[in-house]
Amino acid sequence: MVWRSAEWFAGRDELGPQSRSVLRSLGWTPEFFTGKPVIGIANSWSELNNCHLGFKLMAEAVKRGVIAAGGVPLEFNTISLGEELMKPSAMLYRNLLAMEIEETLRAYPLDGVVLLTGCDKTTPAQLMGVASANLPAIQVCAGPKRAGRWRGQELGSGTDLWHYLDEYRTGKINKQDWHAIEEMYSSGMGTCNTMGTASTMTVLSEALGMMLPGTATIPATNAQRLAAAELSGRRAVELVQKDLRPAQIMTREAFENALRVFMAIAGSTNAVIHLIAIAGRLRVPLTLADFDDFARTTPILLNLQPSGEKLMADFDAAGGTLALLQELRDLLHLECLTVTGEPLGESLKVSTYADPTVIYPRDKPLAPAGALAVLRGNLAPHGAILRTTTASAHLHKHCGPALVFDTYEDMLARIDDPALPVTADSVLVLRNAGAVGVPGLPEWGSIPIPKKLLLQGIKDVVRISDSRMSGTSSGTIILHVAPEAAVGGPLAFVKDGDLIELDVEERQLIWHIAEHELAKRQAQWQPPRSRHGRGYPRLYAEHVLQPDQGCDFDFLRPATQADLTFVPP
Ligand code: FES
Ligand code: MG
Repeated sequence: MVWRSAEWFAGRDELGPQSRSVLRSLGWTPEFFTGKPVIGIANSWSELNNCHLGFKLMAEAVKRGVIAAGGVPLEFNTISLGEELMKPSAMLYRNLLAMEIEETLRAYPLDGVVLLTGCDKTTPAQLMGVASANLPAIQVCAGPKRAGRWRGQELGSGTDLWHYLDEYRTGKINKQDWHAIEEMYSSGMGTCNTMGTASTMTVLSEALGMMLPGTATIPATNAQRLAAAELSGRRAVELVQKDLRPAQIMTREAFENALRVFMAIAGSTNAVIHLIAIAGRLRVPLTLADFDDFARTTPILLNLQPSGEKLMADFDAAGGTLALLQELRDLLHLECLTVTGEPLGESLKVSTYADPTVIYPRDKPLAPAGALAVLRGNLAPHGAILRTTTASAHLHKHCGPALVFDTYEDMLARIDDPALPVTADSVLVLRNAGAVGVPGLPEWGSIPIPKKLLLQGIKDVVRISDSRMSGTSSGTIILHVAPEAAVGGPLAFVKDGDLIELDVEERQLIWHIAEHELAKRQAQWQPPRSRHGRGYPRLYAEHVLQPDQGCDFDFLRPATQADLTFVPP
């Protein structure tokens, strides 16, 4: 077979010698590299991103696998999207990483790529990039981090942090306790150990067929994690030899498999945006209506925080994604090709142990359906999302007066004010926190419960925003309201005291407002002025699509079938 990279390495005139001299400069002999496929290894190891600290060792294991299978591994660095430190949100840079992956593949002599992924946005960004590049690709993830313990209890990433923060704010635990929790919580390399966005997206990558079966849940510090990296390196070479491309794997049917798994694990709401964005790169139709349909018809099987009780290591010990897929078998398209080169059904033939307290059996699910709800109404004409599994049942049908925060800063300044006019019936609204508004759609949607209510023992109220929330958060929190306030969506015109009605069963989000009053408010409205006159944030705000379209850039989505073709340099 003639590889794409041969255009460089076996090139005519000065191109061949110049290209070969790069490999010779690495100290390699032509006997080692001539005629072999070149496999890139995308590595976002960074001290700015604790989740990816294991990638140095993993990259070495991938190289071992690539060499053993007869390929040439070339590791390259990419921007690292560290969820904890990047402000206002790593989401602002998801599309940038996607572009970086696509353009690196386009510009360099690579025949295929192994993508080291982990922290939230990395997984969708890489899949978006390789979907557009459509060169053979495989993901392997960092794996969930070890759970620290405090007072004998395991600490769930994010979920327990928010929980203890509320206890600290209301004086139930003291400063010393709070510091001790911080120390125990910092448990080293790996991704969040709850069913947050990182775990959701890596499990969905496996369900889509882009990660080796059984590898998404292996803990970060297990030796099996390195073995998975080695195997992924091997597979990358075989993918190139078979010429199996992402577009052949990520089909509509594969996305339907991912939706089934998404609902069965009661995954993070962020995955709604990410899956739509990935599908959009391939012109695979995927809409909010699909998410609602699948939520209504898929049983919830996984008992993991924040919707349930357990952590990722328990999920792995219970058989991981493979055991879950086996339970869902009759709802899946088993013929879908995966990076194994075989149909998904083949991978499900091995038996895996299932612990019914972690992965519930099909005939006795945690809940028969309803992992999330897509809400519509005059407050969200293009939809909004509610993770029903973490919402309070008594608020599923609720009508109450709005209490509006105009910006995130406004919310922070007033939320704990004893004079805040808030009751258990209030509907908290946060606006100008969307993709265009900030820009970057940060995870500000989980508005903290006002201290005044916490002290009354009230733990949840309805909250609405054009923002996102961390996959590790919980509450009756309506997110991704589209269109967002900054582009003139309805949220922009809500005032304190307006009645807002939520009906989850009917999938409705209704704002009681008279037409003439709305027209008056619209006439007075001025769009918020962006602070960004230049640079990447300006590019982002000018081109980002709304959440119902995946928040990709308009110019990155192929408008026609012809745009799907990857144009070489
Ligand atoms: Fe990186 Fe949660 S912060 S995975
Ligand atoms: Mg997160």
